Amino acid sequence: MKKLAKKAVAERIVKLRNVINDYRYEYHVNNRSIMSEAAADGLKHELVELEAQFPEFITIDSPTQRVAGEPLPQFISVPHSRPMLSLNDVFDEQELRAWEQRIQKLVPNEKLTYFADIKMDGLACALVYENGVLARAITRGNGTVGEDVTQNLRTLESVPLRLHHTKASLPFIAGITEVRGEIVMHKKDFAKLNETRQKQGLPLFANPRNLAAGTIRQLDPKLVVGRPLNFRSYDLLRERSADIPTNEFAYAMLRELGFLVNKQAKALNSTTAVMKFAKSWEEKRHGLPFNTDGLVIKVNNRRIFAELGVVGKAPRLSLIHI
Ligand code: IVH
Repeated sequence: MKKLAKKAVAERIVKLRNVINDYRYEYHVNNRSIMSEAAADGLKHELVELEAQFPEFITIDSPTQRVAGEPLPQFISVPHSRPMLSLNDVFDEQELRAWEQRIQKLVPNEKLTYFADIKMDGLACALVYENGVLARAITRGNGTVGEDVTQNLRTLESVPLRLHHTKASLPFIAGITEVRGEIVMHKKDFAKLNETRQKQGLPLFANPRNLAAGTIRQLDPKLVVGRPLNFRSYDLLRERSADIPTNEFAYAMLRELGFLVNKQAKALNSTTAVMKFAKSWEEKRHGLPFNTDGLVIKVNNRRIFAELGVVGKAPRLSLIHI
């Protein structure tokens, strides 16, 4: 192959990867299709063919590398960079106000504002990106140590194999970027799977969460491919925490980086506003595509949030049961 032709192939491969990544980004983050599925499949096919002819151009973050690899003999335990915490339960307005009073005492001079999101009923997972490329996916485990499920997570289309570049996201790509979120199975996909199992006379799956958890803990990634799982993010970590001033900012940046976040999530100025938000979701939550488990309430300002964390066992986050 002449040098020039090889250079043209390399350029075409880069172009194909970019277009396929843009398609994935628009579809999963913005719920928008920039081309038909058939057109996207055609481009993926062309990329597979070119990479087969020129394997030296294959990179780990290529969209062709979502294919299931060989089964693992066992999962490897990996420590989390920072603990994956749990929540304090709050059941009504009175308890929420008591929680606010407790934390306000710890930071008497700060104006507390909040960030609320739907609590998804799934399986927590941390994705670690090194210089923008997916390096590891780790289950929550006991919060300190989880299991390396990278092979399985790579097969999920909603997990970017490389972070999305925009002008705003660029400073968040070099070095280590960690994205945490929930793996959920949509209610309608779960019902469809069970319908098929019923027809086949197979035992039914109990609920979407157990099925999602069971699927992610499969040693054979081929079993993950047929199971429709979605990754929805809720946290972004960087070494320099000051780069992410608020949880509202984290959500906006997660979108820029190519992740789906719940668009219902909202910054709120007071516990009164939090309760109003909670009430508004009491009924509406049933219309969401996934099962929910209440609301997660965080202090919006992450500097204050971190300060609260080092004061004894003070709760930093709250879960409202709705
Ligand atoms: S924020 C304390 N936001 O809830 C860490 N967590 O008991 C909370 N979860 O296992 C992080 N939806 O995986 C946050 N919108 C959301 C969430 C969420 C579900 C899970 C999380 C964790 C559990 C906390």
